[in-house]
Amino acid sequence: MSLDDVNPMDTAEIRSRFLNHFAQRGHTVVPSASLVAQDPTLLLVNAGMVPFKPYFLGDLATPWPRATSVQKCVRTVDIENVGRTARHASFFQMCGNFSFGDYFKAEAIPFAFELLVDGFGFKPDDLWATVYLDDDEAERIWLDLLPAERIQRRDKEDNFWSMGVPGPCGPCSEIYFDRGSAYGREGGPIADEERYLEVWNLVFMQFERGEGAGYDYPILRELPARNIDTGMGLERMATILQGVDNLYEIDISRPVLDAAGRLTGRRYGADPADDVRLRVVADHTRTAAMLIADGVVPSNEGRGYVLRRLLRRAVRDARLLGAREPVMAELFGVVGVAMGPIYPELVDNAETITGVAVAEEASFAETLRTGTTIFDTAVRQVRSAGSATLGGDEAFKLHDTYGFPIDLTLEMAAEAGLSVDEAGFRRLMERQRQTAKADRASRRIGNVDLSAFRPILARSGPTTFTGYEELTRESGVVGLVGIADGAGLEVIGEGDEVGVVLDTTPFYAESGGQEPDFGLLRFDGGVVEVLDVQRPVPELVLHRVRVRSGELRLGDRVQAEVDEGRRRAVSRSHTATHLVHAAFRRALGEGATQAGSLNSPGRLRFDFHALGAVAPSVLADVEDEINEVALRDLPVRAFVTTQEEARRLGAMALFGEKYGDAVRVVDVGDYARELCGGTHVASSAQLGAVKLLSESSISAGTRRVEGLVGIDAFRYLAREHLLVSQLSTALKARPDELADRVTDIVGRLRDAERELDRLRAAAVLAGAGALADGAEDVGGVAVVTAEVPAGTAPDGVRLLAMDVRGRLAGRPAVVAVVTADGSSIVVVTDPGARSAGLRAGELVRSSWASLGGKGGGKPDIAQGGGGNPEMVPAVFAKLRGLVADLAAR
Ligand code: SER
Repeated sequence: MSLDDVNPMDTAEIRSRFLNHFAQRGHTVVPSASLVAQDPTLLLVNAGMVPFKPYFLGDLATPWPRATSVQKCVRTVDIENVGRTARHASFFQMCGNFSFGDYFKAEAIPFAFELLVDGFGFKPDDLWATVYLDDDEAERIWLDLLPAERIQRRDKEDNFWSMGVPGPCGPCSEIYFDRGSAYGREGGPIADEERYLEVWNLVFMQFERGEGAGYDYPILRELPARNIDTGMGLERMATILQGVDNLYEIDISRPVLDAAGRLTGRRYGADPADDVRLRVVADHTRTAAMLIADGVVPSNEGRGYVLRRLLRRAVRDARLLGAREPVMAELFGVVGVAMGPIYPELVDNAETITGVAVAEEASFAETLRTGTTIFDTAVRQVRSAGSATLGGDEAFKLHDTYGFPIDLTLEMAAEAGLSVDEAGFRRLMERQRQTAKADRASRRIGNVDLSAFRPILARSGPTTFTGYEELTRESGVVGLVGIADGAGLEVIGEGDEVGVVLDTTPFYAESGGQEPDFGLLRFDGGVVEVLDVQRPVPELVLHRVRVRSGELRLGDRVQAEVDEGRRRAVSRSHTATHLVHAAFRRALGEGATQAGSLNSPGRLRFDFHALGAVAPSVLADVEDEINEVALRDLPVRAFVTTQEEARRLGAMALFGEKYGDAVRVVDVGDYARELCGGTHVASSAQLGAVKLLSESSISAGTRRVEGLVGIDAFRYLAREHLLVSQLSTALKARPDELADRVTDIVGRLRDAERELDRLRAAAVLAGAGALADGAEDVGGVAVVTAEVPAGTAPDGVRLLAMDVRGRLAGRPAVVAVVTADGSSIVVVTDPGARSAGLRAGELVRSSWASLGGKGGGKPDIAQGGGGNPEMVPAVFAKLRGLVADLAAR
């Protein structure tokens, strides 16, 4: 390192120097957004600019002309490289400065250069820059700061940045630090990117790209304004300024690495292969903690799967390193200490966050136990079939039935020297996804291209939502769009199913787990029915409608009418959900926070964090409390305040969810307080009744309760009551005696059935002597074929067959007993018959099974089932024939 005149700088210091540098240059400091991207095209935030995407595209007015942030980011595309290189981590923090149509290259380049040199102490002689092929402008600006030989031009693969998904993009200029000849070849970044380390990327956001992979995507348009987006990796900068080898060894990561070493009994730095695994454990644990803190829970799809995969990889590597005990609780504690000062969400919810990881670790240990056995069996089968490829169906079964993640299957297969038919696996996964999607999509607004809404937004601005105060409203039609293709329409007619955007609407769009409003739009000469309501972009409400009658044109006025009954029933569910949440937190502790919810008319579903099943008595107490609170007639009040104030007031929410200072808080008296954008009843007494139906597990550490509210709860209870009365009449017992009476009856019934079986068997056995006496002689073998009444238990059939065989002692014998309905057969042979080649199993297969039944067995006794009455004579004839043939040999 040639930064010897600089004291090692801790990460917090680098962070604050960065933010101050830009604050002093007119930038508003914006807090990091949640890792859970609001942008539907992305799973997780993976760059500093993601939360600002709508401002770059001009879809939203920018609150500030300049901003700066340190954004939490997760990238898992390079997960295989994590731990192996000095530069890859799945979680990192991106320091950025942004201009939204304000300054451009002439300021952005010197801003960065000054911070590096004056703020961080880099020597100008150690810095290099690259610019895009044709970017003469950027090169001219650099020439004031660096000599021409340290400015290089690169093509689009290196110097044209895009998000990888549709969105803003543009040429970029990167700044590199020369680590010196010990790290590689001369010649600048184009020659060696290990020696010349990229420290900062300045993107000149000027275009919008469309759909497409790699560099194969269309440029849709030039953006309305010229913008700046820069990204400086905080951890990478810390690696340089702290003079350590890689970004796992900096001040905020090292403690996790050391803890991983302690827990697995390995010393970091002693063995290169172990070091890779230790870095994986440390990296994945930290990323997992950050994700859980932002509300992600382990699951089998989307973000939940990213999280599950990280946790499972960490657990597996810790085990391979030698950990015998669970490691997550301790590692998460260390992450909290290292990262907590910057991210209070880690500390505020420490118990819940750790609980989620610990539960996942436990369930994965179980999966590993069962899955590994299944995996080993599959491997043996593959090998004995002379193949070297594990089938896609096997991989899918491991995933689907045993929860074995595909990457684990891939890794374990590679270790066993096998490949996996991954394409086959993906096909099966895709088929499963399509089926699930088709189920969901049958009623939903289609996958309309978001760009369809840009002209509407530009023309008419955001939709005004008035549905908190009113359920009907006259408003103007400002957009008509095709549901399948997003095409703008002028007029729609009877039978059409399209999307309608109004300037003002009382219709609530599905969000926060609350189902959308339904209703009607009436207009001169016609009616359309509202079937679904969504916000395809945050500012617009889209009503999916079917035209019942008339023609509706762009610009027409309509009377929007929300279906009041449905709205009230959904609002009841939503208010009840707040009570359920508050009641569980009171009963189970602060850690029982919400993981998800669904509010439908009269029905609610609430998912929350808890380590184990909730005892039935706790569930009953919670239900009792909710109903008691409801009857207190507490007022439900909503108000808008700042995030800080809401947090101070103790509102429950995942803070840092989004930018924008104003949040809506909903109080149910003094019992529950939550951040919430949903609709509610006016007072808790309007809930009427709440009935919790069931409690179950949906994933490790996450439980689900379902419940009914209002008239639905009442009707459910009334139905149950009716059922109890009917039972009470039928069983001639008072309701409070019913349970005892039923237990008593079931016990007596079981005894009676046993007795009946015994009597039937005795009756059947009583005929044994006569059957033995009537044995036919077939080629010297005594053959008995007997039919017993339908309903004789298989045990009885077998006993009879064996009894008859016993009575024929001394003679070679074959006895076959069948029930009259063909439901079961037993064939037995004695040693004499067997030495003549008569085996019971084969006899059953060639008679019973060959005629349509199922069965088989050993040489001395075999059984079958699944036949029919018509088969019986043919089976007996066939048996005799088989005996005659074999006995004659
Ligand atoms: N968006 C660019 C990047 O991620 C610069 O911030 O590299």
